[in-house]
Amino acid sequence: MRFAGKRAVVTGGASGIGRATALRLADEGASVIVADIDGEAGAALAAASGGRIAFRHTDVTRADEIEALMQAADAAGGLDIVFNNAGAGGAREPIDQLSPDDWDRTMALLLRSVALGIRYAAPLMARRGGGAIVNTASVSALGAGYAPTAYSTAKAGVLHLTKIAAADLAAAHIRVNAVVPGFITTAIFTRHLDIEGARREQADGMIAGAAAKAQPIPRAGRPEDIAAAVAFLASEDASFITGTHILVDGGLTIGTRASWDPAVPSMLTALEAFR
Ligand SMILES: NC(=O)c1ccc[n+]([C@@H]2O[C@H](COP(=O)([O-])OP(=O)(O)OC[C@H]3O[C@@H](n4cnc5c(N)ncnc54)[C@H](O)[C@@H]3O)[C@@H](O)[C@H]2O)c1
Repeated sequence: MRFAGKRAVVTGGASGIGRATALRLADEGASVIVADIDGEAGAALAAASGGRIAFRHTDVTRADEIEALMQAADAAGGLDIVFNNAGAGGAREPIDQLSPDDWDRTMALLLRSVALGIRYAAPLMARRGGGAIVNTASVSALGAGYAPTAYSTAKAGVLHLTKIAAADLAAAHIRVNAVVPGFITTAIFTRHLDIEGARREQADGMIAGAAAKAQPIPRAGRPEDIAAAVAFLASEDASFITGTHILVDGGLTIGTRASWDPAVPSMLTALEAFR
């Protein structure tokens, strides 16, 4: 019960990583406000939570809605923890085909939303003597090939923002950290395809199969894997940790595939055939 008496806001909490984190924080004693544009899933989660989770319809691309969300949490008895997590894939085009509007929309959803989440939470936390903020970045912040261009750039911004904001807010006893998920099986990969029923199940099944084989640890990444790291960063166990991130990727970014997958021999192994 690391969060007994604490109040947490989780954006994008109606699904996937946010949902698992809302449940984890609530399981450990927190009162949680889930903020999301998916009213149906958000309300269902709240209804099933036995009063531990409340839902507030919030679009994180809107500054006024983020400000109202943080104010509402504070008014409910004080804001201790914020998980800036809402997101989607964004613009899919490579850099030479990007539309300026799609770029702006992606940055608004994935980077500006995090900046504003911190912006509107921090003064309220400071008044209470401190708090903990965790932001969702991505392995795509670390290199090419994991996600589209605009998304990857926004997530790199989230990592840097995490560090700079931690410096700005340390004196106010507010810690700011990020979690860096690898390949985690959630609806994010197929949501934008706008398919339902058997087609959706097929696509989700393909993702689940790929996720199990994508990294050295031979199983798919789960939302609960990320929730555990977020709960740690949000807790007093991490009270001397700020301005950094935890990589939760099953080893995805360790190195080349040949370094860990026996089915993909390295060039050095292949050269042995010439002996
Ligand atoms: N799944 C992965 O492999 C993975 C990897 C790295 C990073 N991430 C990041 O994790 C975060 C959560 O994604 P997920 O995988 O759980 O996906 P998900 O689709 O399961 O959940 C995302 C949630 O964000 C909500 N959302 C989308 N736009 C919103 C908006 N404008 N305002 C409020 N809520 C909004 C959605 O309704 C949904 O409930 C995202 O920031 C994503 O970029 C995911």
